[in-house]
Amino acid sequence: MASPDLSVTIGAIRMKNPVMAASGTFGFGREFGQLFDISVLGAVVTKGITLEPRAGNPPPRLWETPCGLLNSVGLQNPGLEAFISEEAPRLAGAGVPVIVNISGDTVAEFCELASRLEDVAGVAAIEVNVSCPNIHAAGRPFASDPGSVYSVTAAVRRATTKTLIVKLSPNIADIADAARAAEMGGSDAVSCVNTFLGMAVDTARMRPVFARVFAGLSGPAIRPLALRAVWEAASAVKIPVVGIGGISSAADAIEFLLAGARAVAVGTGNFVSPTACPEVVAGIGSYLEERGIRFLRDLVGRAAAGAFADPGDGNPHGHGNREEPERPW
Ligand SMILES: Cc1cc2nc3c(=O)[nH]c(=O)nc-3n(C[C@H](O)[C@H](O)[C@H](O)COP(=O)(O)O)c2cc1C
Repeated sequence: MASPDLSVTIGAIRMKNPVMAASGTFGFGREFGQLFDISVLGAVVTKGITLEPRAGNPPPRLWETPCGLLNSVGLQNPGLEAFISEEAPRLAGAGVPVIVNISGDTVAEFCELASRLEDVAGVAAIEVNVSCPNIHAAGRPFASDPGSVYSVTAAVRRATTKTLIVKLSPNIADIADAARAAEMGGSDAVSCVNTFLGMAVDTARMRPVFARVFAGLSGPAIRPLALRAVWEAASAVKIPVVGIGGISSAADAIEFLLAGARAVAVGTGNFVSPTACPEVVAGIGSYLEERGIRFLRDLVGRAAAGAFADPGDGNPHGHGNREEPERPW
């Protein structure tokens, strides 16, 4: 059999395989590019960019937990201008679609980021990180309310013609509602999920470990939770879902694909093994080859097939795609 075809499309991006490096765990690809050829990946997602440079939170910023990692990095980044002048030109020649993750405290900031990235060479897509605090909503993250997810998505949609991905937070009552909000706002895809809010207490100091008390939990500890979120999101929308959360091996990635993710991203796994991403690509290829499956796309959502009534619309998650004539928020 010819080598399996691992290609997938997300919006206008044709990826040679479904494996991305997740935002904030791969920098701008500079260091990882010294370890392997990053063009073997399906896509690279940059560290979250804000309009102005940010110094991030005071230390400690990382704390290991059983099977997980708590982080409170606080969006440290060089800012939009430095990204455009120093990182984008190199990434444009890297031979891999580059997805720029953006963060803002207001809808206007998200829109300005997206419109100023519109003509930057090599930027294939915008990933909107809605987990940031919305300063017009008493500091609650945009992601915590589907109405805010819709507003920011619809506004950014008007600001860019590039492929738009909205990155959902699991810290919400119903992630399917958030996914539907992003889809109705015009997003081309949703990524699921960002980190889960957690905390740790330093028993020696008898104080919370982190200055901001709460931090984001990632790594293998969240994988079953993220998988459930992906299943729910894939059930609710027609746009592709990018599965993220505790993926560090091909077997992990395949679970997400079978549950309905069209692509996956490796995050904390990059810290454990810097070559995790290319290993996941190779492992997915072997899995397909061993089973005589020619196209990766035949795997997507297969675990859901037959689990629910067939809606006859090509979505194996039969209980999804409900008609939603009006916004419920
Ligand atoms: C140190 C660190 C920094 C992160 N920075 C960002 C970021 O800037 N923007 C974003 O959308 N997600 C960010 N994330 C979230 C990851 O992209 C990913 O969604 C999350 O960690 C879950 O995946 P994982 O368990 O594979 O790490 C960050 C995660 C970590 C661990």
